[in-house]
Amino acid sequence: MIILPKRPIFAGESPYGAPQLNVPVCLNVNENPYAPSESLVQDIANAVADAAKSLNRYPDRDFPALRDDLAHYLADEAGVTVAPENIWAANGSNEVMLHLLQAFAGPGRTVVSFAPTYSMYPEYARDTDSTWVAAPRAEDFQLDMSIVRSVLERERPAIVLLASPNNPTGTALPQDQLAEILEIAQETGPDTGTASIIVVDEAYAEFRRVGVPSALELLNANPHLVVSRTMSKAFGAAGLRLGYMAASQEIVDQVRIVRLPYHLSALTQAAARAALRHRAALRGQIAELRASRDRLAADLSGLGLAVAPSDANFVLFGTFSDRHAVWQGLLDRGVLIREVGPKGWLRVSVGTPAENATFMAALKEVM
Ligand SMILES: Cc1ncc(COP(=O)(O)O)c(C=O)c1O
Repeated sequence: MIILPKRPIFAGESPYGAPQLNVPVCLNVNENPYAPSESLVQDIANAVADAAKSLNRYPDRDFPALRDDLAHYLADEAGVTVAPENIWAANGSNEVMLHLLQAFAGPGRTVVSFAPTYSMYPEYARDTDSTWVAAPRAEDFQLDMSIVRSVLERERPAIVLLASPNNPTGTALPQDQLAEILEIAQETGPDTGTASIIVVDEAYAEFRRVGVPSALELLNANPHLVVSRTMSKAFGAAGLRLGYMAASQEIVDQVRIVRLPYHLSALTQAAARAALRHRAALRGQIAELRASRDRLAADLSGLGLAVAPSDANFVLFGTFSDRHAVWQGLLDRGVLIREVGPKGWLRVSVGTPAENATFMAALKEVM
């Protein structure tokens, strides 16, 4: 019998992923419920057809045109000027963050985050042989700054992953706290005199409430800050697989060392650029989704439930003595949400007004 040399660290592990079930109302993975417009579909098809003419060649490894477009998008969205050289992109922000850990973490190094948070973070750490440390958030899911300080000083992490808005809680990180963390992190890195890299994962940033700033504003003054973004959520392009980050030149240069050559296909680059050209049309849609999120939160509160204040396109609500029964009851009525987060809580993504209404009606029945 042949025995494969499986790695002990993967013993008992299974592939990550929310259930992909074929149900009428899917509100489980924080997607944009609106499919791309007909004109966007046409533009993507044309751009991809054009790129296909030179598929015999490898794509541009450094994709400067796409980086330039992404820089323009960030200037529009957050009012912050980022040079194209300070942008990096990959197949989803998951890959961007994996690149960061490959470049800066690894054996003998530590990655820190604050739970509850995005469930992929420990997997990036596992897959890069980094030590994973999850410290707790406060009761209201905000960061407790005294815990942050003591964990950074004790663990001396190479990387700190901070989702803002946080998944699954929807909590945005206040800018004054981020500024304080950046200051603490200046010398808490693994080797004496080195900094910890602070990654602010802004996958849901476009849904933040009016007046909530982006971490991008602190980029210029902080060469140890990375802001990660994605086209999977607000852009309605989860199927495209395009995530990106803005960071100092030094960080981008390190990441370029570990990326596989030609990791971003010519078709992805072309489709992403086409989608970025349509960004103005998304503004109204994002505003509508934000308003729906606030309505959904108010409706859930109206049922007497606890609701975590959300700056994202989902809402964490609870608490239930048997959350699985509630999740299953909703599924039996054709509504798929996510059983995730602290005990007793459930997370629902914001859908179309009709989907939200179906969810609320089903929840009332289940309760
Ligand atoms: C906080 C957070 N970061 C990153 C991602 C990954 O997004 P993608 O790889 O599609 O860009 C997700 C996806 O759900 C997320 O919730």
